[in-house]
Amino acid sequence: MRPYVTPCVFGARGHLLWKVGVIDEIDLGSPETSCERRSPRWGQEEPAGMPALLVALGFHAGRLGASHPRPTIGIIPDMSTQPIIMDGKTVSQQILEQCAVRVRAIVERTGVTPCLTTVLVGSDPASATYVKMKCKRCEAVGMKSLRVDMPETTTTAELVARIAELSADPAIHGILLQHPVPKQIDERAAFEAIVPSKDVDGVTIHSFGTTSFDLPGFGSCTPAGMMRLLDHYKVEIKGKHAVVIGRSPILGKPMAMMLLARHATVTICHSRTKDLPEIARQGDILVAAVGKANFVKGDWVKEGAVVLDAGYNEGNVGDVDYAPAAARASMITPVPGGVGPMTIATLIDQTATAAERLLGIHA
Ligand SMILES: NC(=O)c1ccc[n+]([C@@H]2O[C@H](COP(=O)([O-])OP(=O)(O)OC[C@H]3O[C@@H](n4cnc5c(N)ncnc54)[C@H](OP(=O)(O)O)[C@@H]3O)[C@@H](O)[C@H]2O)c1
Repeated sequence: MRPYVTPCVFGARGHLLWKVGVIDEIDLGSPETSCERRSPRWGQEEPAGMPALLVALGFHAGRLGASHPRPTIGIIPDMSTQPIIMDGKTVSQQILEQCAVRVRAIVERTGVTPCLTTVLVGSDPASATYVKMKCKRCEAVGMKSLRVDMPETTTTAELVARIAELSADPAIHGILLQHPVPKQIDERAAFEAIVPSKDVDGVTIHSFGTTSFDLPGFGSCTPAGMMRLLDHYKVEIKGKHAVVIGRSPILGKPMAMMLLARHATVTICHSRTKDLPEIARQGDILVAAVGKANFVKGDWVKEGAVVLDAGYNEGNVGDVDYAPAAARASMITPVPGGVGPMTIATLIDQTATAAERLLGIHA
């Protein structure tokens, strides 16, 4: 029996792990039996001095190894670690708390309460629920929410005229037209009736342009929320290959532009993309914005990738087949509780910003 060291320095995903790495008494004939898992969770804080201890142990092991027939120092890939779950619920809560502080300051300085107006055309129950949720969040941070409900039979001209009125109303600081609108309406024309300074949902061509040029403006809320989540979890974007599946004007396309503006190399995939699984597997950052439940399979995910699932399908199911994808990802958003709450928080945050700008406050 002799002491020896089994340091495990880096996991397969390149993160510092310390699941083993302590001196143990072992039988020289079966060194593997000495492995002891000390830190089961990837992403937990390392105790102070742990890296230094590993270096010291490694040095010690090297010395032992010189006279040892089977040196035991080396890299042991750890395939069993869990990904970090990107907790949009908690992060969005923090954003909303900051918004409440900003709203109080706006009211104190100007006497004006910021106001978000939501426009709902028709009676789609899912849309009605989304609008209700947005109004509730708005009020929770101290803002006013004004609801404009229009009938299913509304024409493009009627909707455009109503939105133009809201755009001109100085008491309103943000306008959101709930998507989708009934088929007879030209949605693009309706979106374009929103004045850019109140386009807090980031749906106009002007907002897409400012996003693409990385200029001040309002980003489309779902992609902007995903970017905030990436930043919160300190995901390095620069130089990474980002694969975005979906190219809708409010989600896939602006997401790709935001990633490009942050110096990712971006591939945009859509319904006519060939060899989609092969391309998806190249993504260090993989964004699913398709609208099909469990569409992205586990083996489409590159080992160690950061996976953002914007999908929200019937039964609270995302676009990513979660369990097998999580087994390969380094970080992943859950559904629900990932991208969804970030979208609403971004909307509220951008409404506070719009109010600050319109009222001449520069936060
Ligand atoms: N969490 C939130 O707050 C939030 C907000 C908005 C949307 N969502 C969800 O996000 C998802 C996408 O929404 P969306 O508005 O972007 O949907 P969308 O307008 O229907 O766009 C879907 C995109 O997916 C692409 N696509 C469809 N089938 C495909 C296939 N077989 N292979 C590759 N690409 C395919 C389409 O390609 P083509 O362009 O070629 O047709 C399109 O670009 C939905 O589940 C929606 O509910 C969530």
